This record gives sequence, structure tokens and C-alpha cells, in this order.
Amino acid sequence: MQIKFYNSENQVPMEMHKVRVVQKLHLLPVEERLAKIKEAGNNTFLLQNRDVFMDMLTDSGVNAMSDNQVAAMGIADDSYAGSETCNRLIDAIEEVFGVRHFLPAHQGRACENILAETFVKPGQFVLMNFHFTTTKAHITRMGGSVIELVGAEGLVTDSQHPFKGNFDIERTKQIIKELGAKNIAFVRIEAGTNLIGGQPVSLENMLEVAKICKENGIMSILDASLLQDNLYFMKMREEMCKNMSIKDIMHKLAGVMDIVYFSARKLGFARGGAIISHNEDYILRMKEYIPLYEGFLTYGGMEVRSMEAMAVGLRETLDMEYISQGPLFIEYMIKELDKAGVPVVKPAGGLGAHINAREILPHIPQSQYPAAALATALYIAGGVRGMERGTLSEQRNPDGTERFADMELVRLAVPRRVFTLSQLKYCIDRVKWVYDNRELIGGLRWEDEPRVLRFFFGRLQPIGDWQERLAEKFRADFGDSL
Ligand code: F0G
Repeated sequence: MQIKFYNSENQVPMEMHKVRVVQKLHLLPVEERLAKIKEAGNNTFLLQNRDVFMDMLTDSGVNAMSDNQVAAMGIADDSYAGSETCNRLIDAIEEVFGVRHFLPAHQGRACENILAETFVKPGQFVLMNFHFTTTKAHITRMGGSVIELVGAEGLVTDSQHPFKGNFDIERTKQIIKELGAKNIAFVRIEAGTNLIGGQPVSLENMLEVAKICKENGIMSILDASLLQDNLYFMKMREEMCKNMSIKDIMHKLAGVMDIVYFSARKLGFARGGAIISHNEDYILRMKEYIPLYEGFLTYGGMEVRSMEAMAVGLRETLDMEYISQGPLFIEYMIKELDKAGVPVVKPAGGLGAHINAREILPHIPQSQYPAAALATALYIAGGVRGMERGTLSEQRNPDGTERFADMELVRLAVPRRVFTLSQLKYCIDRVKWVYDNRELIGGLRWEDEPRVLRFFFGRLQPIGDWQERLAEKFRADFGDSL
């Protein structure tokens, strides 16, 4: 996996693929970047990609496809019912997860919609290591509440703990006793815990949670959207996985969980989503919603070519050379940023590098969205588009008060097989510059705040003229460079 260099000082992670199709990038001058972020309401979701140099918003649906995926798309069978493409996808799912019952959905949150609609009753609780934005929105929409049970280590940004996404097992048992199993709709285990920095969950912890669920007659659901990086960490960091293949781990997990669902925009380097289970009864209960919300049972809102790409991509997930690239690149970024003193979430997780805005900008209160402000500063400084993962990504409390996030992070996602190391070095360089000029950065306030999932399309304004001063400082420091 990690290729050793003759001169160890040259050691860098290597791309185990070559590039055969390219997309030209544009880097606008800093004055134009300043204008573009204002036009976008200081929300990186609203930037146009033509104005972005490094798009690190997400790794969702933007991973590079392999030659085999592209080739498979050419043989997609476009029939409405009984398509060969669906049969090939079911074969791939059976090979990779060891489970044959499958429901298709157009993406991960569509699976969550169906799971919430089928299994969450008003007043019930859903236990999870940590929430994800869309998951929580679907559960609360059905009148349910989310209880988070991640271990205390999970919220410590600078830590050595190898599996910060783990459930606190004792608390989990205690909460089940307090609430009573019948008041718990299900327990959701999120692999590669997104909102706390892409931190993995150990296989041991997942198995323990599934066992507790079984003992208490509660359904266990694995959100495998970020399982790819999590599998790498299990292999690298966990004793019990040393002698297991990636496939062994996948089969073990899918065998003990009642339901597994995932966004194929992440797992499988493709598009789409899937719910799988070895329990036919659960599948039957969810099945009727697929034609209602998604599409016929053989495609569920997915384009058949995406399904072919997903079948190949899921098999590629079994290949350590493919799945190690993301975590190794992220580890490199974290190491370099840490060396420069930039506060980041440690140890390096999956998905991307997570920068600790709370620590970088202690002068900005959470009510002025420090992570969102930092994300705009990174775009102004380098045309780098990251994503706010802090208070702005939360929903307000039912009484309208702000719900302050446990962590104020800016995520710089590393889409798989997309960026080269020199591009990552550029990004690291610009983050260092922003960090050295952090005192110039100020807060943001709402101009237009949507009621649901406000981070997607809300618009904000800077408080004061700090963005102009940041752009001027860039010009002074970098001369006529872009
Ligand atoms: N679960 C997890 C853990 C996710 O990270 C995501 C998406 C979803 C479910 C929903 O899947 O996007 O296909 O509907 N995460 C993306 C991100 C959006 O950028 O982190 P989806």
C-alpha cells in the first residue's frame, strides 16, 4: 500500500492510478474571488464550480470513475422492469456484502426517508453514535428524536484515539434501560462518522452494538455511506481485522446488522443508493415505498448506467490499493497542517481534512458562525471550496433558539482519485496563509435563513469589511500571483 521511498525524506503517498481524462480548472484573481463569494451569499454551496479552483466541498458523487466503471456503463440495460443491469447489481451486492435482498433508492437520504417512514413513530427515539444532517431531518420529520452516544473521545479534536466514532457501550446499555426498547425505533451505526471529522468506528464496537440490539430486540441499522475509509482504518488499526480480508469484514458486518444502507455517491464511487437486509420481513415493509417515492423496484430512481458503475465500484471497494488512497492523502494533509500549527481534527480520519475553526477563531462567537466564516476566507485565499460543519449545519431548536454545534469545523473533502499531490500541497499552503492571518477574519450574520437544512441554500453577510481587508493582505503578500 504505502510505497517506500529510497530517501525517506521524500516519502509521500502515491497515486496508484494514472489520469486519462482531465477537466480544466480555473483560478480567478483574489479580487474576483472576493466578488464571487459575496454573490454566493457567503455560502460555499452557492458558488459556481467555474469559479472554484479546488472543489473540496464533498466527496459525494464527485469521485473519479475507473476505466472499468466507465466501460460497464456502456452495457447498461435500459428496460423499465427486469433489467439485466439490476441483476448484475444484485450479484455485486451479494458478492460484496453476502446479502441478496436489496431495495434501490436514488441516493442516501432517500434510503433514510424510507427507513424513517417505515420504522419511526412519533415520540420514539433513534440512538446513534452521531447524527448526520439529512438522517436527523428525516427522523425529526416523522416525530422522532435523535440521541447521540459517541464516546467522549469523539468530541476531543486533538486525540490519539484510533476509533473516535465508537459508541460509548455503557451509556448505550443504560439509555436502552432508561427509555425501554419499545420506545426505540432503531439504533443507527454511522461508519466513518461524518460530522465529527470522518472518524471511524471499530469492528469490535459495531459488533458489540449489534449484539446489544439483538439482546434487547431493537433493530440495528448500519449507515455504510462512509464505510470505505472506515474499512481501511479497521484493517490498519484493529488487531481483529489483521487476518480478515475487506470482504470478510463486509460480510461479517452485513451478517450481524438487521439493515445496511448507503449512499453510492460515496460507497462505490458512483451515484445512487441502496438498502440491503437478510431479513425479508423488513424488506417487505419498506418495499411499497420504493415505487411510491423512487421508481420501479429494479432501478429506484437511479439511472441504469449509474447502477452499472456502482456494481463495479462496490467490487473496487474490496481493493486496498483503491481504498487506501483517500485516507493516505488525508493523513498527509493533516500531518503538514499540524506541523504548521494549524488546529485540525486528529488523528486523521476519512472523507477529508477537518480544520478546527473554534480554536483558530476564538474571537468569533458561535452565533456568528466561525466555521462558515473560515470557509469563506479559504475561498478568498485560494479558490478552495470547503464545507462548514458546525453551528450553521445544525437545525434551530423547536423554540427558535440557536443550537450550538459541539464542533466548529471546516471540512476540506478529498474526492477519491481526483486531486494530485501538488494540488493538495497548494491547498495546504493556502490554509497556512489563512491561519497566519486569522486575526483579520470576522463573523457572519444571516441575510436569508431557510427553515430546513439552512446550510444548503441560506445567504449570509460578513459583519464589517474584514473580507476586503483579507483580500488586500493577500495581494500585498502574493504580489501579482493568482
Ligand atoms: N449518510 C452519511 C454518513 C453521509 O455522509 C451522507 C451524505 C448521507 C448519509 C446522505 O447521502 O448525499 O447520497 O443523500 N453525505 C454528503 C456529504 C452529502 O457531503 O458529506 P446522499
